[in-house]
Amino acid sequence: MSLVLLDAVYKITASKSYQEIFDNLCEYLIGSDICRSVKFLVFRSKGDVAYPEGNEHITQEELKQLREFEMEKIDELQSCFVFLANLGVCFESQKIHLCRFKVLEQGEEVFAFFEPAESFDEKAFLYILKIASAPLNFVSSQNTLGSILKYAAFVADQREPEQMLVTLAEMAREFSAADRATIWMSDEANSTLWTKVAHGMGPITIPNSAGIVGFVYKNGEIVVSNDPYSDSRFNQEVDRKTGYRTKSILAIPIKNSENEIIGALQTINKLASKDDFNDADVAKLKLVSSYIGNTVELANLHKEIEDTQKEVIFTMGEAGEFRSKETGNHVKRVAEYSYILAQGCGLDDTTSDLLRMASPMHDIGKVAIEDAILKKPGKLTDEEFEIMKTHTTMGYEILRHSKRRIISAAATVAYEHHEKFNGRGYPRGLAGEDIHIFGRITALADVFDALGSDRCYKKAWELEKIFELFNREKGEHFDPKIVDTFFKNLDRILEVRDRFKDV
Ligand code: C2E
Ligand code: SIN
Ligand code: SIN
Ligand code: FE
Ligand code: FE
Repeated sequence: MSLVLLDAVYKITASKSYQEIFDNLCEYLIGSDICRSVKFLVFRSKGDVAYPEGNEHITQEELKQLREFEMEKIDELQSCFVFLANLGVCFESQKIHLCRFKVLEQGEEVFAFFEPAESFDEKAFLYILKIASAPLNFVSSQNTLGSILKYAAFVADQREPEQMLVTLAEMAREFSAADRATIWMSDEANSTLWTKVAHGMGPITIPNSAGIVGFVYKNGEIVVSNDPYSDSRFNQEVDRKTGYRTKSILAIPIKNSENEIIGALQTINKLASKDDFNDADVAKLKLVSSYIGNTVELANLHKEIEDTQKEVIFTMGEAGEFRSKETGNHVKRVAEYSYILAQGCGLDDTTSDLLRMASPMHDIGKVAIEDAILKKPGKLTDEEFEIMKTHTTMGYEILRHSKRRIISAAATVAYEHHEKFNGRGYPRGLAGEDIHIFGRITALADVFDALGSDRCYKKAWELEKIFELFNREKGEHFDPKIVDTFFKNLDRILEVRDRFKDV
């Protein structure tokens, strides 16, 4: 997967409006020669125009230019023409393809009209549409739920799915003025529903046919029960486990964008003077549940993106090293050394893991260095070394535009891995803790590996000689704290060195 595609994926998933999503899609599809031109249109059920707004009518003559439709997945050709007329959409070519890629909440349908470019790649085309469909849903539900927006930021901050569910549940509770709210997610493999409640306890698991939530999950129906203890479906087991007395329940299925039920939202004990859940609560919670469905789906998509990022990072990292004849194992070792050092320096697991994923990219900027320099068998001239140094800023330029966690950590690493603790490094001559901890750690991991390996310009060093250099450079090239951490964790480091030996 190319960086261009990756970049498009980031932009699309970070978009906050239809307009932004479509603009980014167009930019990618045209920019990478998949389509010659492309327009995205949203049909609303009434047939009025959602996007883009404020277009002029076009004449019948102009409409004729859209002669040769090649139908892909569309039923209503007629409304499509009317719609295009309203929009004033014209293409240069006579051969327009049409693809309906998404049906949103409120019956909105999104269509892509496009002219395939010569190098049209259907797989790539459908892939990017698939990626775009989740944020489309998200944007659409945000429009409906303006007041939920204030929660969106909280929710987006939660990296742990369990924590995200707790936050979403809190939102549902506030919306329905209930005492408690619980989001049950389906675990199909085990035929269970599970939830995480805010305080103390770990996840609670029930059979997916148990109780009112089980009924809602299985039947896709909404249940309002204002006297649960006399409702035979009610599962008193949960109250026994939590020590809580349920007086009223409202439960609603949670669906994904394919309309599959993925869980249930349940609120308990209405806090108002009358102890009952009413139609207005049902209406509100329906919206909340659709928001939850979208959010959970988006979170899963983010996981997919993150996996993609990891893959890309390794591939690109290896590409950088490949050009300079270093093996793919170099980036793997640097990744693992960095992880060990990060943990040893007291960074938390998430942060250490982030560095592990990002550090393989440290030399990505070398892809921009010409072979005559990169592969020179002997010592570089001053002039050549000046060019060589630009691999740091180049790497930074390649990566810095991303808002994604891993890529932006990688940008920092690429930029700062040749800075020195004493301020005599490059490119900026930063010193001490002005150098990001990721840069300081990767610096040591990279040099340890570079010295211990054959390079086109030098032979590998003995371990003892490397240790000597580290002691000499402690507080000079390297952060003293990290040198100490290195020696403290030498066993683990040598184990990695052994495990990912060059063959
Ligand atoms: P690299 O080969 O990945 O080396 C990374 C860093 O390891 C170097 O950063 C340096 O700090 C350390 N290192 C590697 N080999 C030696 C060595 O024999 N002695 C010492 N004292 N340190 C060593 P540096 O110097 O900023 O170089 C950055 C990159 O520039 C190197 O990455 C390599 O790709 C290239 N480079 C540096 N010197 C030469 C050279 O004499 N000839 C060639 N062809 N390339 C060089
Ligand atoms: C159920 O839906 O029957 C379980 C209710 C509860 O969580 O108390
Ligand atoms: C996400 O934004 O949740 C996934 C990618 C990242 O960590 O930046
Ligand atoms: Fe480097
Ligand atoms: Fe390197």
